[in-house]
Amino acid sequence: MTKVTVVGAGNVGATCANVLAHKDVVNEVVLLDIKGDMARGKALDSWQQAPIDYYSTRLVGTEDYKETAGSDVVVITAGIPRKPGMSRDDLIATNAKIVNMVASSIKEHSDNPIIIVVSNPLDVMTYAAFKAAGLDRSRVFGMAGILDTARYRAFLATELNVSPKDIQAVLMGGHGDTMVPLPRYTTVSGIPVLEMIDKEKLQAIVDRTKMGGGELVKLMGTSAWYAPGAAAAQMVETIVRDEQRIFPCCAKLNGEYGLNDLFLGVPVKLGKNGIEEVIELELNEDEKALLSTSADHVRSVMGVYDSMDI
Ligand code: LAC
Repeated sequence: MTKVTVVGAGNVGATCANVLAHKDVVNEVVLLDIKGDMARGKALDSWQQAPIDYYSTRLVGTEDYKETAGSDVVVITAGIPRKPGMSRDDLIATNAKIVNMVASSIKEHSDNPIIIVVSNPLDVMTYAAFKAAGLDRSRVFGMAGILDTARYRAFLATELNVSPKDIQAVLMGGHGDTMVPLPRYTTVSGIPVLEMIDKEKLQAIVDRTKMGGGELVKLMGTSAWYAPGAAAAQMVETIVRDEQRIFPCCAKLNGEYGLNDLFLGVPVKLGKNGIEEVIELELNEDEKALLSTSADHVRSVMGVYDSMDI
């Protein structure tokens, strides 16, 4: 029996639960929200989709952490989203308290869950959950790199007029405007992308990717949910199926890339134990400089969290 809890029944949490149910890889998804009826309603709606889309995953909505007992994986999406003009970092005052409370409550009812953080500011909320849950670093990490590379891959697919399925890419750094897409590690069906696109066009795509979340906030007045929810569901699937897939995720670094005690997006291998391995790529000087700028930025926001009275 595999049980997954998704905390937060807003757009991202509800999408994650719904996409996960469609994958039919876990027995039960508990959708928890302080607005219990919203969670119950969205869980019931998704369950009523099961006879149409053919899945067996049970969905339960609740506001009661007791119902999360024995969860194997927990996805935390709780918190407020951005409004136009806000950076992700502007959310810290509200979301730090929420994520802290959620991670502690989860831990009261599940011994050794794997926690995937989706709330923003992502890297620092992963740090907050790690501290509150007191679990090994391999069991608390954040979803951002899959979303950011998906945006990058989608933009490339449009520009090159190829299927997004065939575009592979790695991206590192924080989930913010300092993120570091890596063209040297981007291929189209194995062909280095630099052989298929000129440098200016690629740079424009890299720049658009960095602001990809903000572009959607401007369009919709709130932040995105389809790709973020699906990205978190993909991480859950990889873990419960013990697939050992490699994705960029926000992980606590213990010396990798010369960085310590920092939560940052890096390629990792995911399996039944959570992060099975942090992959260390050879970066050139330019890439190292970009990563270092991103690391400095995340470290400064971690400092804001440390100075908060929670
Ligand atoms: C985004 C939010 C979810 O990038 O951070 O769309």
